[in-house]
Amino acid sequence: MKDFIYGAATSAYQIEGAWDEDEKMPSIWDEISHGNERTKVRNGHTGDIACDHYHRWKEDIKLMAELGIDAYRFSISWSRIMPPSPMEINWKGVDFYKQLVYELKKNDIEPFVTLYHWDLPKWLDIIGGWGNPDIIKHFKGYACMMFEALSDVKYWITFNEPAVFVNNFWGHNNYSEAVRNVLLAHGEAVRTFRQEKMKGKIGISLNLIPAMPRDKKNKKDQLAAENLSKTHNGIWLDPIYNGRFPTNINELIGFDGKKLQFSWEESKIVSEPIDFLGINYYTASVIEYDKNRPQSYAKGVPLIKEKDEMDTAIVPYGIYWICEDVAENYGNPDIYITENGCAYTDGLTHDNEVHDYRRIEYIKKHLKWCKTAVETGVNLKGYFYWSLMDNFEWAFGYTKRFGLIYIHYPTLERIPKDSYYWYQGLIMGEKMVNKK
Ligand code: GCO
Repeated sequence: MKDFIYGAATSAYQIEGAWDEDEKMPSIWDEISHGNERTKVRNGHTGDIACDHYHRWKEDIKLMAELGIDAYRFSISWSRIMPPSPMEINWKGVDFYKQLVYELKKNDIEPFVTLYHWDLPKWLDIIGGWGNPDIIKHFKGYACMMFEALSDVKYWITFNEPAVFVNNFWGHNNYSEAVRNVLLAHGEAVRTFRQEKMKGKIGISLNLIPAMPRDKKNKKDQLAAENLSKTHNGIWLDPIYNGRFPTNINELIGFDGKKLQFSWEESKIVSEPIDFLGINYYTASVIEYDKNRPQSYAKGVPLIKEKDEMDTAIVPYGIYWICEDVAENYGNPDIYITENGCAYTDGLTHDNEVHDYRRIEYIKKHLKWCKTAVETGVNLKGYFYWSLMDNFEWAFGYTKRFGLIYIHYPTLERIPKDSYYWYQGLIMGEKMVNKK
């Protein structure tokens, strides 16, 4: 594919380690993995060391360069940058990312930087986290600071998968407050980016789920699928592109408390135009009308048999479906698949290799549908495999392996898997073809 970016993605807490080094403050994920909520992470695993990327970043960039990726998506740990006093900045943290960006650029790898990938500083959690509107100004200050510090970065992503991290508020009265605060913080960051006349592009990464009606001709199934799409996808896409929530969203969500709505001024902020949309795609849902849930009218039907080790249904066609859907309903924006990947625990063989043929098949199939999207006119500009290397998979600890590179945790040795070499060949081939 011409002018198509091939990349790989990671996030700070999942790979960096060095959880309290260089005056880094604790984040909620340090709290979860250390604290009495320890049982939440499988086997008591923590991100204290993770892949030790904080110390091995040079080696990792070398592996990326050999892989041949055009771009690398990573996130910044807010807790490394901002101590509780908003007037202070931890320059050691900033320097870490500066040198990372410098080295990536030196190797012709374009950094795609995510500002927030779930690891909220603990001090912000204490004041209510996303449930407290004060967080908007803190996020804006942090974003502005990073735009200036890493002004060479051309691609910025405000948030990773807000649908997932506001889920903590699901069922609580302040759910809508959290949704609104994230959207407003996003919009304020985009606005600041423009006001400061930053040179790059800015967007957001959403985990969108194609909601496909079980029976396309059945009106009720169709409505159920639309409703699910509204509560999961439209709740973010509509404000960002149109400045308002989907109609009847409050009825669909059905919580008491503050309504999901924006004032005129707020609506301008949240819909501050973005340059691209990041889509994290893992799975699709087949939806059937459910008379027992009259509010959401929806029930996912487990029709899809093929699953990875996260028990995630594998639906390569959905990557096309969702890109098409966005293109059609939101003005055909530039899209990057900012995550797509699978977990398989293929281990080391006696010859120190990892033969992860299922991952190769997985990527092939998804890229095939990406190609179809491009061919049908969707402005799909790139694909990032999740993840560059095996890492800390949140509540599952290190028990799930998504990487192109195998991490031997006892020694932290990096071992490229077969999928790494396959991806390398694909990228090389594409470069040759496009040069002609
Ligand atoms: C995401 C998550 C990643 C996960 C990946 C695999 O953005 O979805 O942030 O961090 O590791 O999705 O489950």
